[in-house]
This record gives sequence, C-alpha cells and structure tokens, in this order.
Amino acid sequence: MTIRPERGGLGPAGRLVYTRSVKSPQTGRRRTRAAATLALLCLLSALGSLPAAEAPARAPKGNVAPYYPTPIEVAKAMLEEGGLQPGQLHIDLGSGDGRLVILAARNYGARSVGYELDPKLVISSRRQIDEMGLAEQAKIIQQDLFQADLAEADLVTVYLLPRALKMLRPIFERELKKGAVVVSHDFEIPEWEPTRRVEHDEQNEIDGLPHTIYIYQR
Ligand SMILES: C[S@@+](CC[C@H](N)C(=O)[O-])C[C@H]1O[C@@H](n2cnc3c(N)ncnc32)[C@H](O)[C@@H]1O
Repeated sequence: MTIRPERGGLGPAGRLVYTRSVKSPQTGRRRTRAAATLALLCLLSALGSLPAAEAPARAPKGNVAPYYPTPIEVAKAMLEEGGLQPGQLHIDLGSGDGRLVILAARNYGARSVGYELDPKLVISSRRQIDEMGLAEQAKIIQQDLFQADLAEADLVTVYLLPRALKMLRPIFERELKKGAVVVSHDFEIPEWEPTRRVEHDEQNEIDGLPHTIYIYQR
C-alpha cells in the first residue's frame, strides 16, 4: 500500500489509500490572507462596487473520491455523533449506495439528501429508497457535490479524500448555517479543529487502522 503524506488517492484494487493529514506551518499565514481578502470584498460590496450576486460561482469538480462504502456500524455512529434529530436536514456529499441517506431517513426520521455522480449508484440507491417507502423523506440528486445547496443543512456527512475536503472547507465556511454539524469519516477537514474525534472499534480493512470519525460544529 502506498501512503503519501498530505494526499489521498487510489490504492490497490481502486480503493481509498488512507492518509493522515499534517498541519502546515503556513496555516496561520494563509488564514490571515484569506481574512484580509474577505474583509476587502466586504468593503467593496458595502460600497456598492461588487454586488453580492457576483459571489464566485461553484464549479463542478468531477470525481474526487472512489466508491468505498462506510461500514454500516460506522455510518450509524456518524449520524449519532452528528446529533441528527427527527425533521432535520441531513446531506451526504458523495452518497454512494445511499446508506447514510437511508439510515438518516429510516432511523432518525430526518429529511435526507445525497449527492452522487455515479449513475449506477444513483439508480440503485433510488430504487432502494423507493422499495423501503422512504421517497417522501430521502432523495438522491445526480449532481456534482460541489454544487450542493447546503444553506439549510443541519448535518453534512462526508467520506471523501483530503483534496476534496480542502476544496469543501471554504464552501462550508461560507454556506453552512450557524450550529450546523459536519461529520467526516477517516479524513480531517484541513485547518479545522474537530470538536470531537471518535475511533470506532472496527478496523479499516485497507490499512488496519480504526475507522475514525471527526465531528465539527459551525
Ligand atoms: C468513499 S465513497 C462514500 C460513499 C458514502 N458516502 C459512504 O460513506 O458510504 C465516495 C463517493 O463520492 C462519489 N463522488 C466522488 N466525487 C463526486 C462528486 N464530485 N460529486 C458527487 N459525488 C462524487 C463517488 O462516486 C463515491 O460514491
């Protein structure tokens, strides 16, 4: 198995290669620069020279993670640790076979939306949702996850590679409402401090390390 620092990718048999991210010593500087840029944009917007409608559009990024399903017990723990409540909105970015979406709707009575690119996974997860009579609460959207509407989400779950999480972080910061929770499986969101980190008993068969859940609150 190849382990590359700060990067994830495809391992043997097309599976996720598990890597642990390391904090960059440059983190503080980048944050400062981003904050200064944001302040300038706010100022220009307030002066009327940059209407809010001209905020940068979110471009699709294509496939950013291979399909590798979260074990059911870990998926249940992600929703439990995310504090999902009946009627809340859960979004799974890259929903695979729809297992988190189905669990959220069936076990928690939540409204749940999955974004998935792979047409076969979209068809099979939609079929399962229909067969289980969950169509009122659970929905799979065949769309690039970077174009997901996150504004109303109470809980967002992700099992994506570090590169994707790095691209998602500013989107989360911009669009998630206050109090929203993000739960990430096995990979940390760069530059964010988790409020909790939970190691699951079950080991990841790829690297023998325990499945780890990172919980973040906005
Ligand atoms: C590691 S799997 C996780 C599946 C599921 N969330 C789970 O935890 O079992 C990642 C999924 O993200 C999907 N995916 C990758 N890039 C995507 C994108 N840009 N938009 C939507 N889905 C994407 C893949 O097709 C794959 O099903």
